[in-house]
Amino acid sequence: MKIIKTKDYNELSATSADVVISEIRKNKNAVLGLATGSTPIGMYDLMIKACRDGLSYRTVKTLNLDEYVGLGADSPDSYVSFMRDKLFEHIDIDMKNTHLPDGKAADMQAECARYSALIKSMPRDVQVLGLGRNGHIGFNEPGTPFDSVTHVVRLTDDTVEANARLFACKDDVPRYAVTMGIAEIMQAKKIILLASGAGKAQAVYAAARGKITETCPASVLQNHPDVILIADEEAHALL
Ligand code: F6R
Repeated sequence: MKIIKTKDYNELSATSADVVISEIRKNKNAVLGLATGSTPIGMYDLMIKACRDGLSYRTVKTLNLDEYVGLGADSPDSYVSFMRDKLFEHIDIDMKNTHLPDGKAADMQAECARYSALIKSMPRDVQVLGLGRNGHIGFNEPGTPFDSVTHVVRLTDDTVEANARLFACKDDVPRYAVTMGIAEIMQAKKIILLASGAGKAQAVYAAARGKITETCPASVLQNHPDVILIADEEAHALL
């Protein structure tokens, strides 16, 4: 795992945007694996700026990591809405090329199978990951098997609490989500793992230097041949 320490969040955003943008410049048909959450927002802002400066996303394809069960495009709290607000609506991407699991599917097992097949048919050139305080990647919580594929998960209390800030109140946070599995995350050719702030320092240490164990899902990334951990000074503090 290559580790890049940045002085602050702005530099983290610029460094991660550079990785993604250079991938698109190399290959206009690049497939990006994308994440939601606070951490990649600065990177998305710079991807929008690059579009305004002439970079085209018209033939880029995207696959997101996860979605809350029960939420869809009609909910402002869904990840599909997040991606539209933070990125897709501001760039020239063809919405048909953007994919997230459908949190409102009538049959979630069938939806997991559909999304797994889609992931298989669209090998990702680069996968962007945030990091949970408990070491989760996507919504693969501690204890998730490393060979997991897309599945429905019950979120841990820690994750519900961490995400409550984005909802009107904690009770509004869905208890279930559908997530790309760990085996599928690992299939991306390149992975960038982004972490910002002191609250992530412990998880960063466990991911990069800790024992490779299902107790810390992100530790599996030590087994991937092309991972860049991009952490700001506070998140990097224990390394
Ligand atoms: C989001 C996701 C999550 C987040 C993680 C960190 O799609 O898969 O794993 O990346 O919870 O979230 P933030 O960036 O809000 O700290």
